[in-house]
This record gives sequence, structure tokens and C-alpha cells, in this order.
Amino acid sequence: MTAQPTNLKGLDLLAEIARLKTTRNAVILAHYYQKSEIQDLADFVGDSLDLSRKAAATDADVIAFCGVRFMAETAKILSPEKIVILPDMDAGCSLEDSCPPDQFKAFREANPDHIALTYINCSAEVKALSDIIVTSSSAEAILSQIPKDQKIIFGPDRHLGGYLARRFEREMLLWPGICIVHQAFSETELLKLKAQYPGAPVAAHPECPPHIIDHADMVGSTSAILKFAVDSPAQTILVATEPHIIHQMEKAAPHKTFIGTPGGDGNCNCNMCPYMALNTLEKLYVALRDLKPQIEMSTTLMDAARVPLQRMLDMAGHTVGQGDVGRPKISGD
Ligand code: 13P
Ligand code: SF4
Repeated sequence: MTAQPTNLKGLDLLAEIARLKTTRNAVILAHYYQKSEIQDLADFVGDSLDLSRKAAATDADVIAFCGVRFMAETAKILSPEKIVILPDMDAGCSLEDSCPPDQFKAFREANPDHIALTYINCSAEVKALSDIIVTSSSAEAILSQIPKDQKIIFGPDRHLGGYLARRFEREMLLWPGICIVHQAFSETELLKLKAQYPGAPVAAHPECPPHIIDHADMVGSTSAILKFAVDSPAQTILVATEPHIIHQMEKAAPHKTFIGTPGGDGNCNCNMCPYMALNTLEKLYVALRDLKPQIEMSTTLMDAARVPLQRMLDMAGHTVGQGDVGRPKISGD
């Protein structure tokens, strides 16, 4: 259960978090989809792979993970001796929810000649059932190392899997999961923005469905989108990923205009991740104060899940994180 941040009135949360960080010897890691006030106090902000690497390398005693549960679990699996806290244990992910371990196990058993290449957005149990984990920034480097005749199951994100299958012209059996945030982006609203800002490039995350990728000038992970947005000569960039990343874009290139793609009919908050939004400064303070909620898993599960994660870190090499910057969309997408 997540501790409730009660009676915090009058506390200087930023000062208290800074004090607890020192006394706990804690490092605060945050994903780009976190609220801007959390990004601003974090020691490191990054994409899923950057954050995994930081978690594996830190010498802090406590990792305060401001992201979603599968990310904090990954930190714990890679640094099992450390205390890993997540401000709100209910911060899940629709992709993880779409892939129950028992069903994934049955799917694997029905396809024994396939290896399982699995997106990091899944439970530790599903990781333990997989051969190699990928993130959006490492998937291409890893897939290119797998022999063409090797059959592959890709889960749980069917859009990332479909994007990779088209890009690498190889068949993969796709698990039918989706990210509810990227799925919600509206093609109609994106086309309106394109008409309003002619020439503004569209940078899209590969979790987007093909009808959004079709309009993208660049497809990549959050780190790659950030780098593209900052480095592009364009003054206005249309961003087809969770809009909290725009905070980093505005900090790095304050003279430019970054516009998030609306979801639904353009009038909802459905382009924002409701799971990431559960983390707040108050809950981060309470988590550092009480050292809970903590990520806990059995050693057996962590040992099994570490194998495909370590394969990813080994196979991703140095090309990850920023390596897929500026790549044009696949023709025919
Ligand atoms: P990356 O930051 O690795 O691109 O992943 C995006 C995402 O949806 C995380 O949940
Ligand atoms: Fe999951 Fe999508 Fe939220 Fe990322 S943005 S945590 S994939 S629901």
C-alpha cells in the first residue's frame, strides 16, 4: 500500500526531499513523462534504457524511482542489494496489464521455435519468461543482431513490434497490447496541426499506431525525440509522445515552440499518462521519509528476469539512448 501523504501542510517539500536524499544516500531517477517539478529535482531524467543503466551503475543506497512500476522493478532487478522506492505503487502501465504471465507462458509454449523479444514495459514475471528485453531506444540495435531465420515473438506492444517488423522486413508474432496514451493520439488533430504549422516536423514514439507514424518525420524513443527536437533547425516541432517531455525541450531550446499531439477529440487529457501522473512531490517525500512503498520480489524471480535484461544491456552497446535520432519514417508505414 502507498503511504498517504497526510499532515504535510507547511512543509518545504523541496527542502525536505533534498535533506532526506542526503541522509538516505538516495538517488532520484525520473522518466521524461513525470511532472515537471519532479523532473526538476531528479538527479537524472531519461528514457527507459538510460534509467536502467543509471540504476545498475549507482552507488546510492536508495533508488527513488519516479516513473512506473515496471521501471522501478527493473532498477531492483539490476541492483538487488539496493532499496528501491516508488512514490505510488499503483503506477502501472497498460502494456504490462495487457500481458498476464500465465497467458504469455502459454503463448510461448504454443510457439516453441520462436524466441521472445520483449519490450521492457512488462512485469518481472513476463521478463523472466523472455529471452531478450528491449526498450524503444535499444530495439533496433538488438533486432539487427538476431539472425534473419530466427522466428520471433514480440510483446507486449503490438505497435512497436509492428513498426520493427516493417522496418526490418521480418515477420514477428505480435502480442496484442497497446499503450493507452499513444493509442489515443488523434490523426485528425495532428493533421490540423500540420496544416496550421506547415513545415513543422512531427517526431513520434514507436508506441504510436501506424496512422500517426504515417505522418512522422522522425520515429524514436523519448531520448531520441528530445534530441531531435532540440537539434532540428525547425522552430516549431510537433511532438507525438506523452507531453511532459516538452518540459525538457523547452529548457534545452527556449526559443523554439513544441506542440503536443492532442488525444481523442482534442479536448481530453488522454494524451497524458495517468499512471505516471500518480507520482507527486508529496508522495516522493513520504516514500523517502518512510522508505516505502518498496519494490520487493523473490530472489528467484529477480535472477530469472535479470538474464534477458542483462542480454539487452550487453547487446545494446553504445548505440542506445540517442542512437536512433532523426531517423525518417519507414516508407509504406
Ligand atoms: P522510452 O522512454 O524508453 O522511450 O519509453 C516510453 C514509455 O512509454 C515509457 O513507459
Ligand atoms: Fe505505459 Fe503508455 Fe504510460 Fe508508458 S505512457 S507507462 S507505455 S501507459
